[in-house]
Amino acid sequence: MREACILSARALRLAGEMVEPGVTTEQIDKAVRKYIEGAGAKPSFLNYDGYPGSACISINDTVIHGIPDKKTVLKAGDIVSVDVGAYLKGYHGDNAATFPCGQISPEAQALLTATQESLYEGIKAAREGGRIGDIGSAVQRYVEERGYSVVRRYVGHGVGADLHEDPSVPNFGTSGRGIRLVKGMTLAIEPMINAGKAGVKELPDGWTVKTIDGSLSAHFEHTIAITSEGPVIMTRPD
Ligand code: MF3
Ligand code: CO
Repeated sequence: MREACILSARALRLAGEMVEPGVTTEQIDKAVRKYIEGAGAKPSFLNYDGYPGSACISINDTVIHGIPDKKTVLKAGDIVSVDVGAYLKGYHGDNAATFPCGQISPEAQALLTATQESLYEGIKAAREGGRIGDIGSAVQRYVEERGYSVVRRYVGHGVGADLHEDPSVPNFGTSGRGIRLVKGMTLAIEPMINAGKAGVKELPDGWTVKTIDGSLSAHFEHTIAITSEGPVIMTRPD
């Protein structure tokens, strides 16, 4: 599983390096697919429930599950969320990050920073003997203190032999509540944070999820393992 996670992290890094004005989301998706397949792995999302891409690429007010295409050209000032998973030797890795395209506004940068930090707060709370609500509570507190909203409709998840396993890992909740965290659990923690209100809508394509109020949204995700030495981030590129 560690190998799948490292590959996922390298694919995400590659995607991030391609985020520049003038690049299409399809170009990034194709590069991600080539990279993962070149390593003898499979893109976890490709054909999952009929999903047509290898990555999800979600710009500005798109929260998650943006479908890459040749018409969508990145422009300076965009914030670009890339979510990618790889399946290797029987296990999945899953990770996401939101990248700035060229120069972005201070407001957009603040949202990215807060969302990434909230992920680290959630990871810190993923400790043996704790409860699943410890994670969501830590994420929620961190972002709400800064005036942002946690998306409720979509959550993180267990990950391993299947991309989506029990338990659900909400980015909101109450510490001390929910199932107990035990060592050996591997979880995808993935806060989706809106600059405005929490509400989201799915577009008629059946995938693309946007904020209802048109506000910016950011998404960061790591696959982590709970160990007796504390949480270990599996999706590091090296
Ligand atoms: N990281 C997302 C998730 O864990 C991406 C899934 S996209 C899909 O749910 F296409 F695979 F559904
Ligand atoms: Co995920």
